[in-house]
Amino acid sequence: MKNSKRKLLVTSALPYANGAIHLGHMVEYIQTDIWVRHQKMQGIQCTYVCADDAHGTPIMLRAQAENISPEELVARMRKEHQADFADFFVEFDNYYSTHSDENRELAETIYFRLKQNGHISSRVITQLYDPVKEMFLPDRFVKGTCPKCKAEDQYGDNCEVCGSTYSPTDLINPRSAVSGATPIEKESEHFFFKLPDFEGMLKTWLHAGHLQDEIANKLDEWFDVGLQEWDISRDSPYFGFEIPDAPGKYFYVWLDAPMGYFASFKNLCSRRGDLNFNEYLKPDTTTELYHFIGKDIVRFHALFWPAVLAGSGYRTPTAVYAHGFLTINGQKMSKSRGTFINARNYLDHLNPEYLRYYFAAKLTSRIDDLDLNLDDFALRVNADLVGKVVNIASRCAGFINTRFDNTMGKILAHEALYQSFTDAGQNIIALYEAREFSQAMREIMTLADKANQFIDEQKPWVLAKESGREQAVQNVCSTGLNLFKVLTAYLKPVLPVMAGNVEQFFNIDPLTWSNYHTPLTNHRINKFKPLMTRVEQEKIDAMLNDAGKQTGQAKPKTTKSATETTMEPIASTIQYEDFAKLDLRIAKILDARPVEGAEKLLQLTLDIGGETRNVFAGIKSAYNPQDLIGRHTVMVANLAPRKMRFGVSEGMVLAAGPGGKDLWILQPDPGAQPGMRVK
Ligand code: MSP
Ligand code: ZN
Repeated sequence: MKNSKRKLLVTSALPYANGAIHLGHMVEYIQTDIWVRHQKMQGIQCTYVCADDAHGTPIMLRAQAENISPEELVARMRKEHQADFADFFVEFDNYYSTHSDENRELAETIYFRLKQNGHISSRVITQLYDPVKEMFLPDRFVKGTCPKCKAEDQYGDNCEVCGSTYSPTDLINPRSAVSGATPIEKESEHFFFKLPDFEGMLKTWLHAGHLQDEIANKLDEWFDVGLQEWDISRDSPYFGFEIPDAPGKYFYVWLDAPMGYFASFKNLCSRRGDLNFNEYLKPDTTTELYHFIGKDIVRFHALFWPAVLAGSGYRTPTAVYAHGFLTINGQKMSKSRGTFINARNYLDHLNPEYLRYYFAAKLTSRIDDLDLNLDDFALRVNADLVGKVVNIASRCAGFINTRFDNTMGKILAHEALYQSFTDAGQNIIALYEAREFSQAMREIMTLADKANQFIDEQKPWVLAKESGREQAVQNVCSTGLNLFKVLTAYLKPVLPVMAGNVEQFFNIDPLTWSNYHTPLTNHRINKFKPLMTRVEQEKIDAMLNDAGKQTGQAKPKTTKSATETTMEPIASTIQYEDFAKLDLRIAKILDARPVEGAEKLLQLTLDIGGETRNVFAGIKSAYNPQDLIGRHTVMVANLAPRKMRFGVSEGMVLAAGPGGKDLWILQPDPGAQPGMRVK
């Protein structure tokens, strides 16, 4: 650990470019960032890279739905992701994209090397194909009735009701989630990476200290069933890299995604004279490579990836560190519960360092899930950071600023106490290294309690009133501040911005693991400014409200039902941009029924292509519900959900007419399929 020649390359998993960063993601990026900042405080060369994972079917389809090119979508998402990370103070040395020249070149290189070494095979396979959309369907894009329990509307790979797994061809009444069409079976040639060639290598590698024990043991199960060849190609249309010697075939996103780690690093090396790309890639390298990932993507990183690297003559990872999943208030993040909190929802209302601390206080080196309980979050941050840590400084700084001309005392009032604080450093640094952040936070808070006790006992505010005790006041307050400075160093990987403000207050060089123990005596400091305010419940509520609004249950501001809402006056003209905000979709009415206690409403269940919506529509006066079932109509699919007395309405059906019996819902010409966008 003391070896200052160590060279580390550290990565976090590359977030998909088809969605926003949410607080679950942030567990990983905050965990990695804390570890990297700790490494940098040791003064070793540590480089932290990441990128957007730009390829794959979902990204292609989302771009189509938005009527933009995948390149445009990927560029926009990358910008948003980078802003989210930067605002959480996650400091990458480079943030790149897998859709880059560097990555194409690297992906082609490994492919040709694997092929040359005999690790690629090919054969014809049968898959479900959407005859309308003219594309093969990934499992997640086929829906139908579960072959086991007969639950409707299940994905092609597993049933969320009974938990069974199956192949999409087993589904009863399968349909394409893209077009709604019934898929057909179609053959196509695919390329496979021969994972079984690496069985021996992997068996050794898994237990050679590169993985957490719980992961290594879990992966052993894979050998019991036997390693399977891994399908690394996809057919056109696909957003990805075309396989150079197989026109119309593309690399599967998971082949080029991990290569994206190196692509990002390579891109950085081209700008940095002190980094040598090949030094980090050659098989006999002494550089270290660490991947931080979530437990859901272990097999890609701990089986396929080391095998692909070994098979193409590259180095393998030093370690893969997996973490658990974030739950919110004890449950999976959920759109309908309004707990699907995007990074931006949080950032709009709360200090990012609160969350960094809260996650640090919960993170261990294991893969247990961790819970963000919002009551506990407020209590914990307020008690620990504001009540304990910052409190030390606010109790002492004023005296030094006003009574002693901003100058720290010449001696420490309690040498032994100070020494015990700096002695604790070795253990805390070791805990950071071992990713036992939770334990580190506990140690730091125990020290903070001791510092507050010391101030409680010395009572500088009492001493200040006694004559002839000036020196004592100065030394006690300086000691308190010195203890605070040591704690700030210990918290710096977690709270980099607050630590920066403290360095500025003390007028000192950046705190590191080699200078944190030096006390400040007879040293001029700056005026103290409040460092952190308490978490306010209203801010948490506002965040939840935003999260609910964009994804599910908006907390209703008024109790008016949709039909009671007065109409806005009709604008004379609107801009195209205003029109483009409307997401109008063809919807198939799966069910329609009267609503008890509502005179005008019908409750409609609408299919908009693989997704069903519950909508309350004020059309009861004009329609018999039975007559509506099976018909197609048009709905506004992106209207903020509205909580009504009877349930949540997730959109609006379009109808025209003066009202009463004279009301007509819109109906598309035959052929229009559920989910199609009206433009
Ligand atoms: N694109 C792949 C990774 C490719 S790496 C070569 C991917 N992307 S992701 O956006 O779905 O997830 C990115 C990381 O965030 C993954 O490590 C994933 O495990 C993690 N998390 C996503 N949701 C999470 C939680 N709810 N909780 C904790 N981590 C979560 O997978
Ligand atoms: Zn089932």
